[in-house]
Amino acid sequence: MRFAVFTMFLVMAVSVQAVKEKDIFVEKGVTAMEEGDMEAAVRALKAATDLIDLETPDPNDQYIYVNLGTALGEIGQAALSAAQYRKAIDVNEENVDAHYFLGLTLQDMGRNREAADAYASAASLDRMHWESMSNLAAVLLDLFDYSSSVAAFSETIGILEQREVEPTNAPYDPFPILSQLYYRRGMALSGGSSGGNQGGTCVVQAQTQELGGKGVDCGEMAKFSFSKAVAYDERNEAAKHMLAALTADATMERASNSYVKGLFDDYAGNFEQSLVHELGYNGFQLLRTFVGEVLGEENLGFGLVVDAGCGTGLVGNEFRAVSRTLVGMDLSKKIIDEAKMKRPGLYDRTYIGDIVEGIRAEGGKIDLVIAADSFIYFGDLLALFESIRDGVTMGGHVAFTLEDVGKEDARILDNERPDWRWKLTPSGRFAHRKGYIEDVLKATGLVLVGYEAMVNFRFENGVGVLGHMVVARKVQGG
Ligand SMILES: C[S@@+](CC[C@H](N)C(=O)[O-])C[C@H]1O[C@@H](n2cnc3c(N)ncnc32)[C@H](O)[C@@H]1O
Repeated sequence: MRFAVFTMFLVMAVSVQAVKEKDIFVEKGVTAMEEGDMEAAVRALKAATDLIDLETPDPNDQYIYVNLGTALGEIGQAALSAAQYRKAIDVNEENVDAHYFLGLTLQDMGRNREAADAYASAASLDRMHWESMSNLAAVLLDLFDYSSSVAAFSETIGILEQREVEPTNAPYDPFPILSQLYYRRGMALSGGSSGGNQGGTCVVQAQTQELGGKGVDCGEMAKFSFSKAVAYDERNEAAKHMLAALTADATMERASNSYVKGLFDDYAGNFEQSLVHELGYNGFQLLRTFVGEVLGEENLGFGLVVDAGCGTGLVGNEFRAVSRTLVGMDLSKKIIDEAKMKRPGLYDRTYIGDIVEGIRAEGGKIDLVIAADSFIYFGDLLALFESIRDGVTMGGHVAFTLEDVGKEDARILDNERPDWRWKLTPSGRFAHRKGYIEDVLKATGLVLVGYEAMVNFRFENGVGVLGHMVVARKVQGG
């Protein structure tokens, strides 16, 4: 009996000692986090978790796991960080922050399906947690689950627009956030960037209430979303652009630079995965093969080559072997950074800015301009081709791709607007008429030396996109 009491006392003494030590490590860890020393925070918090008594759970342990998860995330240990958030959830499955942070970590790791589950859990535990709901919507959009994404964006908008309950972590200025949410909901309604949802009927309750109808055409709903995005923030160029695309604004002559820059800055990290692997884009290879066929493979060997709208360097890579000096030009700094990271040394020089100015600035010394899938952000091509005329040497070439409208659209346009030249499509890109391309070349002293219609060089929602592939030469008195 005494022995037993003694033993109990000993156990308690060890346990109290451990709790004390644990608290000291927690305090150390939290202080290190506040001071931004995440390595030290990880060491201290790890030591604290080692002292957690799994037999006698303490509700406070969940916060140690959350803090350790955050510190690990800060030093780039995403998988270990996710494991700590999961431990916090094991202690308390209603810990909203643990679910939300787990979502952020999994999203960073590219595990979008699991991230969506984590965000959904956080959002269902706290109905006012707009950040979880908005991230859920964004992840669902990345997963091409458009209707669920639309519903989640609508839900987030509802949380931020209502006035009865304070949202969790309410933003100081909700207007720019609401503008982004409406814009992204518009994109989800338009089928991502591809316009694939056009013509469908949107019956999600939260959306139809806004328009007072039972079921609203997705295109109409998207227009409504883009116009709300502009109303909340008139500097939202992307929303303005998409609104013009959906309202078939024939007056739009080119996409604004801020729209293109924003789009590709956002897209940079995922560009090739999305365009090449998911949408089957092969325009860069087709263009290279075509130039060889038109000019003769044995004649290829250029001095100065400009890759106009170079993106991550897919086209540049194809032409590197036949270019002495290769210059990559693009509006998006982030995509140029991605090109440098993915293909170090591919470009001899890069230029961040508008190709109209960049090409002209080369002062007539360019031997070849290559442009795959980048002139599609221009409706009116004249200023662009005047710059090419000024930037290219006599006898120099330009090789480019453009999009064409589908057969049905062409029939309608030919009937209703026989003088049509280009069309801003619901994807936000321009499609051109072949005759118009020929007119612009003629007007700028360039002679068409090769033309081929492109079929299915990219897919959108399973539908192949049509296009043009052109090689033209600058000639004396052309
Ligand atoms: C669809 S990507 C194509 C990239 C690359 N040419 C390829 O085939 O993979 C279009 C690129 O053109 C760039 N771009 C569009 N308009 C531009 C402009 N006016 N000036 C410079 N870059 C532009 C975009 O930033 C983007 O990187």
